[in-house]
Amino acid sequence: MNKTRRDVLCLGAALGVGGLSPTLLTAAAEPTHLTAKLANVQLAPSKYPQTSIWGYDGKIPGTLIRAQQGDRITRRFVNELPQPSSVHWHGLRIDNAMDGVAGLTQDAVEPGDTFDYDFVARDAGTYWYHAHNKSVEQVARGLYGALIVDEAEPVDVDRDEVLILDDWLLDTETAQLDSDYASGHDRSHAGRRGNYIATNGAAFTEIPVGQNQRLRLRLINAANARIFQLSLAGFDGWVMAYDGMPLEVPEKVDGPFLLAPGQRVDLFVDVIADAGETAHLVRVDDGEGYSQVTFPVGSDPTSRLRRDVPKALPPNPDMDVPGIETARRFELHMEGGAMGGLERAKFNGKDMGFRALINANQFWSFNGVVGMTETPLADLSVGETARINIRNDTAFPHAMHLHGMHVREVLDNGDMGPLRDTLLVFPDEAREIAFVAGGSGKWIFHCHMLGHSASGMATWVNVE
Ligand code: C2O
Ligand code: CU
Repeated sequence: MNKTRRDVLCLGAALGVGGLSPTLLTAAAEPTHLTAKLANVQLAPSKYPQTSIWGYDGKIPGTLIRAQQGDRITRRFVNELPQPSSVHWHGLRIDNAMDGVAGLTQDAVEPGDTFDYDFVARDAGTYWYHAHNKSVEQVARGLYGALIVDEAEPVDVDRDEVLILDDWLLDTETAQLDSDYASGHDRSHAGRRGNYIATNGAAFTEIPVGQNQRLRLRLINAANARIFQLSLAGFDGWVMAYDGMPLEVPEKVDGPFLLAPGQRVDLFVDVIADAGETAHLVRVDDGEGYSQVTFPVGSDPTSRLRRDVPKALPPNPDMDVPGIETARRFELHMEGGAMGGLERAKFNGKDMGFRALINANQFWSFNGVVGMTETPLADLSVGETARINIRNDTAFPHAMHLHGMHVREVLDNGDMGPLRDTLLVFPDEAREIAFVAGGSGKWIFHCHMLGHSASGMATWVNVE
């Protein structure tokens, strides 16, 4: 029998404190499970059949993990999938051994096996977790959830809402997921894009609000490849944080903004629509606006006055990027993809031509190399500041995600951009990032368009 914490405490009380046996103490320390498994959920509207998904605890999104800054988080990952898997905690600064990258930081967890994740949530903010083995398939099937770390001091908002956006590629009659996760067309173009866009696993999300309320919206893009373009209606909004990390000065939202795969944005939004009206999180697609989340405004007798412009959220500890002038510099040159003209590249140690690469379902290269190799992009020492100049010579945007560290962009005028863990780089752009090599270990650096990552766009930095 599996003893819950409560059973153990009751037994402890019955026995008196001195009666707590070592086995009971061990039972009490058993971590909470996070079980990846198959489930059927009503993803599409109710006139459609249920969809078979893979989800953490059988849900989409998976169980919300919420902690206080500084808390220790322990989860026993239980793999009930028919495939090996692992869990990555996207955006968290944790020990490399807990980073969850199958094949780099740990072996994939076999079906029926478990793995204990155990780390401290150093930073407050909006993070997420997702599968990191065959992620182009496993994330598309639904293996992700939000991980929220609350600030030490409560934040002055009336509501706090986690909104995970995803696009699902569903058959329009059966509502089942398209199973061609290896599509060469998708991989060589913009990636797998869905035809059904949901928030927190539902097409229609309605959140009742009151006049003049202030909401914190935590937006997370869990899509395989779609860059969401979003805007606000009936709200005054401010960007408070990108990728979990607070801005020193909140930015007023005054038009559409982008959210690339893997990225998060924390907004404070004040309801300015009147009672009886609706406010919206609007998704802009091909110039059309769709209500992605609807906020009916109730007349609130206790309705308060509008608040002042929000103050910045407290910064997370030790986020400086000093000494960029003298930092070592590295180049990351992206090539390939459709309309990209990749003629040759190294794959698995072999110099291969265009045809051979296509036959291997590989389309993209970093510095002339396709996919992960034994050689890291950069060998760094703990605490060292490094710069990487990312040049996109492909016809597609790429969302570059560095594990375990946040980066700042070195802007043309010498200023530093906001802290990010995922940076969107458009075709023909060169964007330079600077960061401090955090913990020791092997940190993957890849495109979060997951089909791109699976077909060449992955490298790593070694920190010792
Ligand atoms: Cu969110 Cu390497 O991933
Ligand atoms: Cu990409």
